[in-house]
Amino acid sequence: MVEFEWGPVMLQERSGGGEQETEGAVMVRGAALYDAAVALVTFGRARELYRHTAAAAAPRERDRVIDIGCGTGLLTCEVAKLIREGEIVGIDASEPMIDVARRKRSTPICRYEAALAEDLPFEDEYFDVAVSSLFFHHLGPDLKEKCAAEMARVLRRGGRVAVADFDKAWNLFGRIYEHVGLLAEEQDLKDSMAGVLPEVLRGAGLANVAPGYGILGCIRIYTARKPSDEFPWR
Ligand SMILES: C[S@@+](CC[C@H](N)C(=O)[O-])C[C@H]1O[C@@H](n2cnc3c(N)ncnc32)[C@H](O)[C@@H]1O
Repeated sequence: MVEFEWGPVMLQERSGGGEQETEGAVMVRGAALYDAAVALVTFGRARELYRHTAAAAAPRERDRVIDIGCGTGLLTCEVAKLIREGEIVGIDASEPMIDVARRKRSTPICRYEAALAEDLPFEDEYFDVAVSSLFFHHLGPDLKEKCAAEMARVLRRGGRVAVADFDKAWNLFGRIYEHVGLLAEEQDLKDSMAGVLPEVLRGAGLANVAPGYGILGCIRIYTARKPSDEFPWR
């Protein structure tokens, strides 16, 4: 019998030598079977979602890209397929997920680190692009805001964002999906399915927040930009 377990974990603090606990639902057990599980719950459409998210982020040669809550690196490696040179870093609070990502999806330009999304171990404005998939619905309201703020902090001015996650259902399939079984009981997921993501991204100071491609009537890609000094509306 396969058991998945999600819960809070302790990780090393960015500043100082201590440890920090996250409130996020972090994968504790079952990482080896995550890829199969995500294929199952997306009815075989996960790869399509990752390909579209990577394309929406539009990485350019030599860009630095961060994938936040990267899990086993499924989206990270789709981004890595789009450029030959650059630096692509997937971070996740789950060491078992990072181990799987390192084993299955490391490339010369693509690496994985165990880190908290609310305390990213990178300097301000280090990245050109930030991506994320199926991550924000694991966080309570405050943590959603903190993680979006961290995403914006590590992004350079004018940098691009593509985030795929649960959204307000926009068709019958999405409404059915929303009310099925286990998923319906998760409060953080319910918040995401109330459509909070665009507001969370705007609240972090990101601009041009726009809905894009979606699957299953309830999982949507949002793109955004960190405003640049030169063109503050971009
Ligand atoms: C459903 S998985 C998505 C993984 C991957 N992005 C994908 O699309 O397959 C959500 C991931 O978020 C991670 N996570 C949850 N809270 C986190 C936090 N505070 N910081 C970093 N990662 C976190 C979990 O460990 C898990 O790997």
